[in-house]
Amino acid sequence: MDRVQQSVATLELDGAAGRSALVDPFGRAITYLRVSVTDRCDFRCVYCMSENMSFLPKAEILSLEELDRLCSAFVARGVRKLRLTGGEPLVRRGIMTLVEALSRHLRLGALDELTLTTNGSQLAKYAAAIAAAGIRRINVSLDTLDADKFRAITRWGSLDQVLGGIDAAQAAGLRIKINAVALKGVNDDEFPRLIEWAHGRGMDLTLIEVMPLGEIGAGRLDQYLPLSLVRARLAEQFRLEDIDYRTGGPARYVRVAETGGRLGFITPLTHNFCESCNRVRVTCTGTLYMCLGQADAADLRKPLRASEANDLLFAAIDEAISRKPKGHDFIIDRRHQRPALARHMSVTGG
Ligand SMILES: C[S@@+](CC[C@H](N)C(=O)[O-])C[C@H]1O[C@@H](n2cnc3c(N)ncnc32)[C@H](O)[C@@H]1O
Ligand code: SF4
Repeated sequence: MDRVQQSVATLELDGAAGRSALVDPFGRAITYLRVSVTDRCDFRCVYCMSENMSFLPKAEILSLEELDRLCSAFVARGVRKLRLTGGEPLVRRGIMTLVEALSRHLRLGALDELTLTTNGSQLAKYAAAIAAAGIRRINVSLDTLDADKFRAITRWGSLDQVLGGIDAAQAAGLRIKINAVALKGVNDDEFPRLIEWAHGRGMDLTLIEVMPLGEIGAGRLDQYLPLSLVRARLAEQFRLEDIDYRTGGPARYVRVAETGGRLGFITPLTHNFCESCNRVRVTCTGTLYMCLGQADAADLRKPLRASEANDLLFAAIDEAISRKPKGHDFIIDRRHQRPALARHMSVTGG
């Protein structure tokens, strides 16, 4: 089968034949779906969760089969990249069943990339199976290489376990990008070390600004560190060369001349990245968020469960995409210390 025949086969399979690709009111094609497969996690990172989080009752959560059907409906409507996230995706029971099921879209040519964002704690266990399912690269979140700081940031995590997971993932042939959240007074002295470590192991590194999502029991102003400042400081020590490299995400990259590696900056607060937004997010309860920074959402669980055919689901997706907003306006300053949104990052997965 050539690529066109394969796409037609996938469309017919999912009942999407004759339906168009998803394009929002601003002309942006929706080709990237991020799926939070669980709201649970084995860490409690200080910027993401409060220590005593309450989680969703199991009955509200989509089964693995339902998640597969939902993702496949988006693939049938033109989504080319799927990212599994969470909470921690690798603590969802049976997660590899979902990964293996979704990988059929890679083999059929309907999907360009299946990937995941993980805290790395379970990678030693799953890396080989992840690679065998056709995942080529993953994002691992790691904010520090200092074991005590790691424990303080994640509350429950073990640095050794995550480093072991990274070793296993590289041994399995997975490419890794490290994501680090920039935290004022916590890891801001460590960025040169993180750069040298990540690049020394052939991994890209992306720094992320703290976003004001969810009540976490601490002031955001205490955590917030503008990356414009970080970049200026790094530029005193490294030669940062602007490059065109884009991964379809919001990161802007430079090449660090001394290491030869790539360094990305995700700056939702200092730079608005919405113009080129190609993505939507769905939670483990089937709630579709059209924008990470806005509260508006659509319930896809109801149409999913209402019928075995996908007509109602496609109608709900179309209606939701017609409401995708132009962008967000996160602000953290002295007057805006409350979360911009009540939901936590672990709901939508970043
Ligand atoms: C919510 S986690 C889910 C996947 C997985 N548990 C992990 O940590 O990689 C996805 C990403 O969001 C980031 N994150 C969580 N809360 C954040 C916040 N308030 N601001 C910026 N990034 C945040 C994490 O550091 C992580 O890189
Ligand atoms: S950032 Fe990821 S690892 Fe940390 S608490 Fe949130 S979901 Fe868990």
